[in-house]
Amino acid sequence: MKILVLNGSPKKDASDVMHVTRAFLEGMKEAGTHEVKILHAIEQHVEYCTGCFSCMFNGGACVHDDDMKGILEEILDSDLLLLSFPLYCYGMPAPLKAMIDRTLPLSSMAMRRVGDRYEHIGQADVSRLRFMMICGCGFPNSAHNFEPAVAQFRQLFRGDKTILTIPETPMFAAPEAAGVTGPRLELVRRAGRQYAATGGIEDALLAEIGSPMIPEEVYASIVNGNAGGAS
Ligand SMILES: Cc1cc2nc3c(=O)[nH]c(=O)nc-3n(C[C@H](O)[C@H](O)[C@H](O)COP(=O)(O)O)c2cc1C
Repeated sequence: MKILVLNGSPKKDASDVMHVTRAFLEGMKEAGTHEVKILHAIEQHVEYCTGCFSCMFNGGACVHDDDMKGILEEILDSDLLLLSFPLYCYGMPAPLKAMIDRTLPLSSMAMRRVGDRYEHIGQADVSRLRFMMICGCGFPNSAHNFEPAVAQFRQLFRGDKTILTIPETPMFAAPEAAGVTGPRLELVRRAGRQYAATGGIEDALLAEIGSPMIPEEVYASIVNGNAGGAS
C-alpha cells in the first residue's frame, strides 16, 4: 500500500502527534509492506487558494504554480491519505488547511445531491483512495474538543475513512511520561496492524486509544504547575 502522510504540525518531526502516527505506521509495517511518504505541510510551498474556481471548469489548472501540483499527483498515486495534525483552535493548523483548500482541482463545479446534502462531482478518480485522520490535542478532554475537526474530515472525504483522536498528546514528548505513553503507543501499533490486516480498527480499541492517559485533573494540575501562576 502507498501511504501519503500530510503532517500538519509546524513542529515537523518533533510533533507530539507524529509519535502516534509513527507508531501507527510501525504497526502497519509489522503486518505488511508499505511505501510511506511523509510531507510536512509547513515545508511545502503552497499558496492560498484565491477562490477563482478556474481549476474547477473543464479540467482547468490552478492559477498558482507551486508545490501543490506535485502534491495532487502524489495524492492520486496513493492508496491511503493520512492527515496527521494537532488540534489548533478546534480545527487543523493553517498550513495543512491551505493544502486541503488547494485540493479543489480534484472536483468539478458540477454538483449532485448525495443523501441529504450536495457535493461536487470529481474531476479526478479518487475512488481507490482511503482516508485516515490522526489528531492529538493539548486538553485532556476529547468531548467538546475534537468534534469540529472530526465533522470537517467526515464531510471532506468520501469513501473509506478512519479517525483516531487522542488527548493529552504533549505527554508523548515528555520522557518522564514514558510509563504511560509507551503502553499507549503499543495500543496504536496494534491499531496499525489491525488496520493493515482488516482495513479498519475496532471501536473498543479506538476508544481505548482516545481515552486520557492520566486522569484529566492530574494532567491539568501538572500543566498548571508548569505554566506558573495558575491556581
Ligand atoms: C495555535 C494553537 C491552537 C491550539 N488549539 C487547541 C485546541 O483547540 N484544543 C486543544 O485541546 N489543544 C489545542 N492546542 C494544543 C495542541 O493541540 C497540542 O499542544 C498538541 O500536542 C501539539 O501537537 P504537535 O506537537 O504535534 O504540533 C493548540 C495549540 C496551538 C499552538
